[in-house]
Amino acid sequence: MRVEDLPEAKRPRVQTDNDCTGNLAIDTDDAKQEKISSPQVLLVDKYRPTKLSQVIGNAAKVTVIKEWLSNWRALAEGKQQSSKRRAKAILISGPPGVGKTTVARLVCYEFGYNLFEVNASDARNKTNSLVAEGLKNSLMNLVKEMVTNSAITVSETRKKMALIMDEVDGMSSGDRGGVSELIGIIKATKIPIICICNDKYAPKLKSLLTHCEECAFQRPMRPQLVKYITEIACKESIQITPEQVSELLETCEKDVRLTLNQLQLLAMKIKSHGLSSRTIKDTKGSPFINVERLFDHGNTSTLLVKERQAFADVDLMTLFIQENYLNMRPAIAANDHDRMRLIAAAACRISEADVMSKAVYVEQKWAMFPMAATLGTILPAAAVSGKREQLSAIPGDRNFHRFPALLGKSSTRTKVNRLCQELTCHYTCGKPCAASGKQLRLECFPLIRARSLREMMFTGKGGREQEGVESVVSFMIEYNLNREDWDTLHDLTLLHGKGPMFQSVASVLCSKVKSTFTRTLNRSARF
Ligand SMILES: Nc1ncnc2c1ncn2[C@@H]1O[C@H](COP(=O)(O)OP(=O)(O)O)[C@@H](O)[C@H]1O
Ligand SMILES: [Mg+2]
Repeated sequence: MRVEDLPEAKRPRVQTDNDCTGNLAIDTDDAKQEKISSPQVLLVDKYRPTKLSQVIGNAAKVTVIKEWLSNWRALAEGKQQSSKRRAKAILISGPPGVGKTTVARLVCYEFGYNLFEVNASDARNKTNSLVAEGLKNSLMNLVKEMVTNSAITVSETRKKMALIMDEVDGMSSGDRGGVSELIGIIKATKIPIICICNDKYAPKLKSLLTHCEECAFQRPMRPQLVKYITEIACKESIQITPEQVSELLETCEKDVRLTLNQLQLLAMKIKSHGLSSRTIKDTKGSPFINVERLFDHGNTSTLLVKERQAFADVDLMTLFIQENYLNMRPAIAANDHDRMRLIAAAACRISEADVMSKAVYVEQKWAMFPMAATLGTILPAAAVSGKREQLSAIPGDRNFHRFPALLGKSSTRTKVNRLCQELTCHYTCGKPCAASGKQLRLECFPLIRARSLREMMFTGKGGREQEGVESVVSFMIEYNLNREDWDTLHDLTLLHGKGPMFQSVASVLCSKVKSTFTRTLNRSARF
C-alpha cells in the first residue's frame, strides 16, 4: 500500500530527531497509538488535533496558510496570476501553545505533503559551542540539500515534501548566520517552507520578514477554551468547575499546551491530596501584562492569583504601579473629585509601602515583606482600577502602561555622577581646591561655562575667533581639562531656559570656532 492511500491519521510523520543529528525518524501512528494507550500518556498528545476542524481558534489564519500552500506550486513555477506578491515561505508567529506547529502539520497533510521538520533552536544551549556550530552546520547542510535536491522535491511520482522550520526565533545569537542561512534556503527552495516563531518582531528576524508571507496566530477566545478544556476534563473524569478552568486558563495565559499539562498535574494531585487551588501554576507573564491585569477593573481574581501577578517581580511591579497610577481613570469614580480621592488613597498605600520596604530592606524585617508588597502593588492598583488615559497630549502617542522612568533616570544619574567625578578630579589636580565635587558642580562649573562661552561667542565675528579660543584653551590647560571634560562640563551645566546661555554648545558656536578650538586644544594638550 502506498503512503498516499493511507487515511490521514495513519500517515507517517517524518521529522528530524531532537538530538539534532539530522537523522530522519519515522513516527508512525501505530507507534503513537501504543504510546497513548499507556497510562503515562500526556493529555496534549492524547488530544492533539488530528483534523483542522478540531483546532480551537485562528480559523482565518488557517485559511491564509491553506491559500498560500495551495498556490505554492504555481508561485514556484512562475505561473502566479494574482497581482499580490507571494513569498516562497510563510512565517507563522504567535504565543506558545496556541497550535502553530499542529496547524502547520495538519495543513501540510491536508494538501498531501510529507513533512521534513526541523527545530531551528535545537543547536542552542550546547555547552561546547564548537560542537553546536558543527551540528548546526550539518543540520543546515542537510536542510539545504533537502529543499533544493530536485530528485527529492519535484519528482511527480514521489510524495510532495514540505519543510517546517520550528522556533526560528530560538536560533541563538551564537549561530548568527542562522537567519541569513535560512533566507538563502528560502530563495533556493523547491519545496514550501513554513517557519514558526513566537515573536516576529524579534530583531534577528527582521530580515526574514521580507522573504516570508506573514501569519500571526492569536490566543483563542476564552469561552471556546473553557468549553474545550471542560470537555476534556469531563472525558478524563477530572472534577473541576468551569470557574477553576477559567482561573487555570488565566494563570496559563491561554496557552493550551500548558493548560492541558496543568490539568493533568491537577488530576494527579486531586487523586493523591484532593483539589487545592495552590496547585495552579505560578503566573509569570511580562510585567507589562501583569500591570495591566492589576489595573483591570474586570479582574475579579482572588487575592492569591493577584499576589502571583504582583509578586512575580515585586520591586519592578511596585515601580510600574507608581509610574502609571496617575494615568488611571478609576471605574468607580463618578466625577473628578472621586477620582482625586481614589488617586490620593493609592498614593497613601504607595507611601506606606515605601516606609515598610525600608523596614524590610534596611532593618531586615522580612516578616513585613508580603504586607509591603501588597501595599505597593495590589492595593493602589485596586483603588484606581479602570481605564488608562493619556495625560500628555502628544498626537499619535500609544496608550499603554509605561516602563518605570525611575530606572532610566537612575542610570543617567550614575553616569552623570561618574562624569562629574572625573571632571572634579582633573580640575582639582590642576589647581588644588577645597571645594567638594558637588560645590564645584553647583557653583564653579556654571561660571566656567558662562565665561568660556561668552568669550568664544563674541570673538567668533570678523575672523577674530583665535583670540577668545586661545584664552579659553590656556584656562583649560591651567586647570588640567581636556576636550572630553569640556563636553562634560557643558552637558552637566546645561539648564532649561531661553537665550544663548541655555543652548547646547553645538548650537551656539559656529563650526569655524569649534574646529579652531579643537585644533588649538589638541596642539597644546599635555596629556
Ligand atoms: N488551538 C488548539 N486547539 C486544540 N489543541 C491545541 C491548540 N493549541 C495547542 N493545542 C494543544 O497543545 C499542544 C501543543 O500545540 P502546538 O501546536 O505544539 O503549539 P505551538 O506550536 O503553538 O507552541 C497540541 O498537541 C494540542 O494538544
Ligand atoms: Mg510549536
